Amino acid sequence: MESKEIKFKLNGKIVRTEVKPYDKLLEVLRDKLGVKSPKYGCGRGECGACSVLLDGKTVRSCLIYAVEVDGHEIVSLEGLQANGLTELQKSFLKHNSFQCGFCAPGMVIQVTELLRENPHPDEEEIREYISGNLCRCTGYNPIVDAVLDVIKNK
Ligand code: FES
Ligand code: FES
Repeated sequence: MESKEIKFKLNGKIVRTEVKPYDKLLEVLRDKLGVKSPKYGCGRGECGACSVLLDGKTVRSCLIYAVEVDGHEIVSLEGLQANGLTELQKSFLKHNSFQCGFCAPGMVIQVTELLRENPHPDEEEIREYISGNLCRCTGYNPIVDAVLDVIKNK
């Protein structure tokens, strides 16, 4: 199948790359563009480990075809922390919100979107918002505590 050149903004920079029509965004980010924070977990949209922001909205990059982001903007964790750790990331560190860390990039992306849309969510809203991001290690409480701490200090 023929390749196509796509052009999009990735973490603040315009990138161009050749992709096949069936290439998933996650593969292109990790294997062609060296963006390693989105992780391959389930490959089926069920774990959230591959999450990135597409025009400011969280998407599962394992479900999106790379051709779909032509002309759009993608931000991964690398983009969020380009100028140093965000307050959210610092809070996650403070609360030991990760153990293996596999879920971390997706979780931070998801919560970043939440706090942009709703700067003061309550605990129930936080839990609902991250319900599609699976974490095998923490039981979620330290993650929720970290988010609540950020909100408290706003
Ligand atoms: S790898 Fe994309 S949602 Fe699990
Ligand atoms: S810290 Fe291991 S999956 Fe979340």
